[in-house]
Amino acid sequence: MDKRNFIKTISLATLASPLYAGALGDIFKDLPVNALAKTDDFWLKVRQDYKLKPEYINLESGYYNIIPTSTLNKMIEHAQMVNYEGSYYMRTVQWENKKRMAEKLASVVGCSPKNVVITRNTTESLDMVIKGMRWNKGDEAVFAEQDYGAMKDMFKQVAKRFGVVNKIVSVPNHPKSDDEIVELYANAITSKTKLLMVCHMINITGQILPVKKICDMAHQRGVEVMVDGAHCIGHFEVDIEALDCDYYGSSLHKWLAVPLGTGLLYVNDKHIDTLWPIFAEEPRESGDISRLNHTGTHPVYHDLSIENAIDYYNMIGGARKEARLRFLQEYWTSQVRDIPNIIVNTPKESHRACGIANVGIKGIEPSVLVERLMHDYKIFTVAIDYANVQGCRISPNVFTLTEELDVFVKALKEMAA
Ligand SMILES: Cc1ncc(COP(=O)(O)O)c(C=O)c1O
Repeated sequence: MDKRNFIKTISLATLASPLYAGALGDIFKDLPVNALAKTDDFWLKVRQDYKLKPEYINLESGYYNIIPTSTLNKMIEHAQMVNYEGSYYMRTVQWENKKRMAEKLASVVGCSPKNVVITRNTTESLDMVIKGMRWNKGDEAVFAEQDYGAMKDMFKQVAKRFGVVNKIVSVPNHPKSDDEIVELYANAITSKTKLLMVCHMINITGQILPVKKICDMAHQRGVEVMVDGAHCIGHFEVDIEALDCDYYGSSLHKWLAVPLGTGLLYVNDKHIDTLWPIFAEEPRESGDISRLNHTGTHPVYHDLSIENAIDYYNMIGGARKEARLRFLQEYWTSQVRDIPNIIVNTPKESHRACGIANVGIKGIEPSVLVERLMHDYKIFTVAIDYANVQGCRISPNVFTLTEELDVFVKALKEMAA
């Protein structure tokens, strides 16, 4: 089938009824999670809940997840309601509603609502922690060169401003064991280390790090741990309390598919009273996390959509979504790992990755690879070219079908040859 016909066929698949209209349906409800992960008929229904551009195959859900039409419509309804009520809404139930969203969110991420604030994104969440810690000259921070630029920049800023010394490690793309990773971070810690930042999932490769073990190791040395979970909530099942971290930040507009501009910050009880908030807030009772959540006026209807996105996520089921995303990644990576000239920059072991992976081709620069994928194969993805990662990041979504990944695998094989 040529590319144009393939894309047409995919759009014609609208003949399948959407998932949202019919909920799971008996046939699918009883299928074991791993069997459902491979059942395209079910995911074709999920696909009908989305409005997708037919011009290209979208394998770049990592930046922002397109939201299902049902969530989008709810957001529009919320915007209409807020616009109808105006200041009355803002002065009466705004904060009550935000609290309800935080409660619902807490139930998805395995922590108490008293430790959760809703922010705009991971950048706001984690920069508040880096910037808001009580630094002294000579204190040290540890993070990795594979971490996200915005947080690395904030560490550079606190280095300039407070004299913090940054220790930067490099995470291997194919670790031999959890111990190798834990040791890497442990070796960078000194008696002056105050904060360690670690990605729960490295965004450029999709590698999942052994965060609980890193937290245990760091706590034994008196070091606080801030986890960058930008890509984790709604992607695979996250239990923040089980990680025993000090801080956890995530973007809800990524895998939980909440409208743009929604994030989460988890702060352990120990730090609620001591962290400096981004925006000043009146002193509160000890342990009241709202001291960290002054926002100023902002699009509250985006926050209101958090519960709709969670309803959609729960309708699919967290375990089902995680299994499908991991299946899709392994579906394509397993076909190319052993092909000459193709380099998969993501670990093979299932527990070290989920939906995201990174692939490069020897002799082709990542930016050129991405251009050729779009121009020659109508596949949209993103180039990564720093640290030990040269390739394109592939992030399929619940609407991705295996036929689309077949086009991608064929493209890789042709280019590698
Ligand atoms: C690992 C990681 N951390 C932080 C961020 C920042 O997320 P946001 O732009 O939603 O603040 C991203 C964005 O892609 C990311 O991949």
